[in-house]
Amino acid sequence: MSKLASVKVGVLGLGTVGCGTLDVLARNADEISRRAGRSIEVVAAAARDLSKPRAFDCSEISLTDDPYALVADSRIDIVVELIGGTEPARELVLAALANGKHVVTANKALIALHGNEIFAAAHAQGVTVAFEAAVAGGIPVIKTLREGLAGNTVQSLAGIINGTCNYMMTAMKDRAANFDEVLVEAQELGYAEADPSFDIDGVDAAHKLTILAAIAFGVPLQFENIYVEGIRDIALDDVRYAEALGYSIKHLAIAANDSSGVQLRVHPTLIPARHMLANVNGVMNAVLIRGDAVGQMMLSGAGAGAEPTASSVVADLVDVVRALTTDPGNRVPHLAFQPDALSQAPVCPMADVESAYYLRMDARDQPGVLADIARILASHEISIEAIRQQEPAAAAVTVPVVILTQRVREQAMQLAIAEMTALADIHGDIVRYRMETFA
Ligand code: HSE
Repeated sequence: MSKLASVKVGVLGLGTVGCGTLDVLARNADEISRRAGRSIEVVAAAARDLSKPRAFDCSEISLTDDPYALVADSRIDIVVELIGGTEPARELVLAALANGKHVVTANKALIALHGNEIFAAAHAQGVTVAFEAAVAGGIPVIKTLREGLAGNTVQSLAGIINGTCNYMMTAMKDRAANFDEVLVEAQELGYAEADPSFDIDGVDAAHKLTILAAIAFGVPLQFENIYVEGIRDIALDDVRYAEALGYSIKHLAIAANDSSGVQLRVHPTLIPARHMLANVNGVMNAVLIRGDAVGQMMLSGAGAGAEPTASSVVADLVDVVRALTTDPGNRVPHLAFQPDALSQAPVCPMADVESAYYLRMDARDQPGVLADIARILASHEISIEAIRQQEPAAAAVTVPVVILTQRVREQAMQLAIAEMTALADIHGDIVRYRMETFA
């Protein structure tokens, strides 16, 4: 075994993931040092409330409630940032980098929103920022895209990358449970972010998609250009109607790169119930990737939780340790592509994005209504794939009509929806979801 001194680590944050990381490092210390070539030793940790009981015995570690002291601690080679949120995480990470320390972080918002600044600071210091745990918890999707698929032109990816949304959508489908009920469950189980609107309104998935798209396509981190819809308005009826037609509704983060530009979108999507992505259930995450050489592939696993996230944090630590003595210019670039080789490909406006659609509308049950709808769709060159009149609610004057369409540009669909909504025989708003088959 190597006679090199251990690499010294300081951990910011002793919550679920912090304690999980300490546990995995201690439990697998021998395996980890066999892989890294040196042992990895946590010498210090910072937490807001030192009196709090912890899931890990920290008596061998020097503890502080001053994170700024930790990032300045001269013993430490690598800072592991597990406090989450953008501030003070950003300030602490920049301070650690300025002090010449490498950083491992699980912080998706930090990388999505401030990655450019952070990577530039790391580059200037010749140190590394590793962030595998920021996307899809324990799934090594960053490493796969950045290294394993380095020979490909990545064409698209579609991910279930928010476990809370997936847990909720699965529960609504499997148990016919309503939205509010399953949100409370997801919070009680500890899946949801401190502010669950980050999960259910799609912000968390958009942070993660920002990172995935940059690494997949060699484009800048651009959270501000992502189209985002959450799951807040999904009705149980739509989950049931979709299921009856052979589809599941999943909250997907989709990125694609073709001649029309880069697509960056997060929204509920109908996918065929038999597709492998539709069978990723509960809190599990998955990312479907299409590369020109590899074809279609899918990674799946736990997207959150103490140990799966620790699995990625520790893998990053091993990577950083292995690269400590290498020339910084020859390390794997933070965003997979060399910083001066990023593409400025335009982001495709949603109006130009093409997809198939699921529509639901409440129509008066009388002759000619469906003919009017078909005429409007045809006038926008929208082809109907399936149409189904559902059971009306008791005493209702309308019947729910569900239509699946073939692929069409979003702008044409918006115009058609506006015209159909204006029909006197259509009551209320028309519900629409995009539909993908990944064929
Ligand atoms: N709230 C996140 C999720 C946790 O539900 O996936 C992991 O980032």
